[in-house]
Amino acid sequence: MNSKTFVALALALAATSAIHAAPKTIVLPPDGVQLKPSSLPGYAKAQAQCVACHSAEYMLYQPPSAPRPYWDAMVKRMKTVFNAPIEDADMPLIVDYLVKTYGNEQPK
Ligand code: HEC
Repeated sequence: MNSKTFVALALALAATSAIHAAPKTIVLPPDGVQLKPSSLPGYAKAQAQCVACHSAEYMLYQPPSAPRPYWDAMVKRMKTVFNAPIEDADMPLIVDYLVKTYGNEQPK
């Protein structure tokens, strides 16, 4: 075996062992509180636009008696005060999800 063949063989072996290495499982640290799942269309919108800066834990601290205008004002505040990238068209859907999931329109 000349040295070139040996190097090629060694490389091939290294490649095979890499392929056969156990699949890497990545365990992420628990990411705080998640939004409560819902079939409302606002759920996906909120997931995309409301938990980029903070966890959903913030919703849990809101009063369950909070009516729709309260959530509306809060979503608008996120956008105007904190520059949250929330589409105007998505706001009513998000507010609807929030008030029915965390506010005073929750199913009893
Ligand atoms: C651009 C970043 C950003 C995004 C996106 C964002 N927020 Fe916030 N949010 C903040 C900041 C900053 C605070 C204030 C944190 C503090 O006071 O410690 C906050 C606070 C809150 C609070 C706590 C109560 C309050 O009024 O301070 C709630 C509830 C909340 N956000 C809900 C939402 C919802 C619902 C959305 C989606 C519509 C959203 N946030 C999107 C940045 C964001």
